[in-house]
This record gives sequence, structure tokens and C-alpha cells, in this order.
Amino acid sequence: MARVFSGIQPSGGMHLGNLLGALRNWVAYQHEHEAVYCVVDLHALTTAPDPAELRRNTVAAATLLMSVGIDPERSTLFVQSAVSEHAELAWMMECTVGFGELRRMTQFKDKSDRTEFVSAGLFTYPALQAADILLYDTDLVPVGDDQRQHIELCRDIAERFNHRYGDTFVVPAHVIPEAGARVMDLQNPDDKMSKSLESAGTVGILEDADGVARKFKRAVTDSDGEVRYDPEAKAGVSNLLGILASATGRTPEAVADDYAQYGPLKADTADAVNELLDPIRTRYAELSSDPAEVARLLHTGADKARTVAVATLKRARSNAGLLPRS
Ligand code: TYM
Repeated sequence: MARVFSGIQPSGGMHLGNLLGALRNWVAYQHEHEAVYCVVDLHALTTAPDPAELRRNTVAAATLLMSVGIDPERSTLFVQSAVSEHAELAWMMECTVGFGELRRMTQFKDKSDRTEFVSAGLFTYPALQAADILLYDTDLVPVGDDQRQHIELCRDIAERFNHRYGDTFVVPAHVIPEAGARVMDLQNPDDKMSKSLESAGTVGILEDADGVARKFKRAVTDSDGEVRYDPEAKAGVSNLLGILASATGRTPEAVADDYAQYGPLKADTADAVNELLDPIRTRYAELSSDPAEVARLLHTGADKARTVAVATLKRARSNAGLLPRS
């Protein structure tokens, strides 16, 4: 059975892009593979969130993952900082990755352009991400398209470490869906949908149905009136086609054939999205009434994760020449 690992930041406001690009695959994979999923709170620290907010968002993210369908009995679901091996292996990853490689990361360029204080952690972020993945002997990493470069760097780091110190890590592969891998902002379809941009073009997973419908109704399209899938020339319309295709398991081109006007396309996309979100909203309302149970499930998950992480870290330490701990 293949081992699957993925993570999500607890930065509040999880959105449709997270769901279509990643979380739906997470849910599917737990039935076919051995799945390990993580709320990456250490990654969130790179931008110094308010402590109370981070705490709240971490619990909310875990609750949302369960609401989306991650079954903590079937998958290993935990919070990154509860397994300190992540931070320790991250140091070894920092000593394996090159400065030039980190400098080429487009996410770093984007994020550092948008913030006043750029922490060293934001720069070395992909090293911690590599540690997350490699600790679990991961074969497959289900992510959206924006994580492609980080996973490819993780492969390079694993190969370099293995080359330096002998076979230590499994070299993972990313899995990126055909449709939904890059959900764009409904108001600025040249930018990806993102929780940190706080745009009216972001559809929150927990937003109410009317709000979702309104956002799709106001989605930016273009003035030529032709329904055609062409992300370069028709970003707004193609985004709607991609969302509807992903929500209904079709291709954007096939969906385009069904429409002659933008209005019905927007309305049907909103309906299909609300159909996906409805059960998630209901489940979230149930689960969030019992945070103690969520905390208990996360502690059990961390205990399960730690067993694997300890063994991998021990192997990495030993191969790199660090003395045994005791
Ligand atoms: P994060 O928290 O930004 O996003 C979580 C997942 O959602 C996907 N995603 C999208 N997919 C499609 N369209 C969008 N607009 C969109 N926005 C986000 C992301 O690709 C991701 O799969 N660095 C990671 C978290 C991480 C991680 C890991 C992932 C830490 N360690 C190890 C995989 C393996 C991140 O910030 O994702």
C-alpha cells in the first residue's frame, strides 16, 4: 500500500481552491492508501500570526478536515507541532537544500513581496515542508498546482541526502488533479484563489449558500460573450468552467459545450459548488460543538504519526553521522 502525505496551513478561511485542488483527493486517497494528513501550524508561524488566532485556526482547520471527510480512524490526522521530529528533521533539510534553490521558489517571491517583515523561516519554508513529507516515507503527495515546485524541490533534497549519506528517504511524487488544480479568484481571475488575499473573489468552504451564489453571480468574466475554455484569453470564464468541471467530474471543454451564455454557467456553477459544500457545512456545525473530541482525535493522530517519524529521524540522524541520543 502506498503512503500518502499532505498538509494544509491553519491560516483561516479555507476556500474552494483548497477543496478542489487538494482536500477532495485527500479524502479519496484514505480509502486506497495509508494516509497521513497534517495541519501545519509551524509553517503558519513564518508570518507571525496572532497567537489566539493561530490556536483558533488550528482547531478550525482540523475540524474542517474532518468535516470534509477525513476520517481520523482511517487516516492519521494531527497537528505538525505536536510531533517535534518535524522541526528537527527540518534542520537537516536546511543543511541539504541550496540557498539558490530556495531563492528560486516562486511562493517565496510572491509572499515576501507582500509582507514587510520577511522571516528567515519564510525563506526556508520548503525545507520544513520536505521534512514533513520525508518523515513518513511518503510515496504520493496530493496537492494543488501551486505546490508543484515545493514537491519537486523535496524530491531533489531527498535524492541529494540519499546520495550523500546512503539510502535514507523514499523519493515522493506529487499528485495534482486534472481539473481544479488551480482555482482562480472570482474577481481577479489572473490570481489564484487565496485565503490570505481576503478578496471578494474567494469562496470560503463554510460560507453560507446565498453568499456563495452571490459571489458566483458577480464573478468577473469578459465582454465577448462566448463560452469557451481558454485560460489564457478567457481567464474568468475558464475558471468557472474549471470549477464546474471539477465539481461534477467532467472536463472543462465538455462543460463548455453545454452553455451559450454566461448567466446560466454562473448559476449552475454556484449550484454545483453549494451541493458540494452543503454536507461539509452541516458536519462542521456538528463537530465544532465538541472541540474536546477534536482535540482528543488530534492527540491520538499525533501519537500514531510520532511512531513513524521517530524511526525515520533516527535513520536520518545515524546516516548523517549524528551520535545516538541515548
Ligand atoms: P496551503 O495551506 O496554501 O494549501 C493547502 C492545499 O490547497 C491547495 N490550494 C489550491 N488548489 C487549487 N487552487 C487554489 N487556488 C489553491 N490554493 C491552495 C494547495 O496546493 C495545497 O495542496 N505549503 C503547503 C502546506 C504544506 C504541505 C506540506 C503540503 C506543508 N507541508 C507537505 C504538502 C506536503 C501550503 O501552504 O498549502
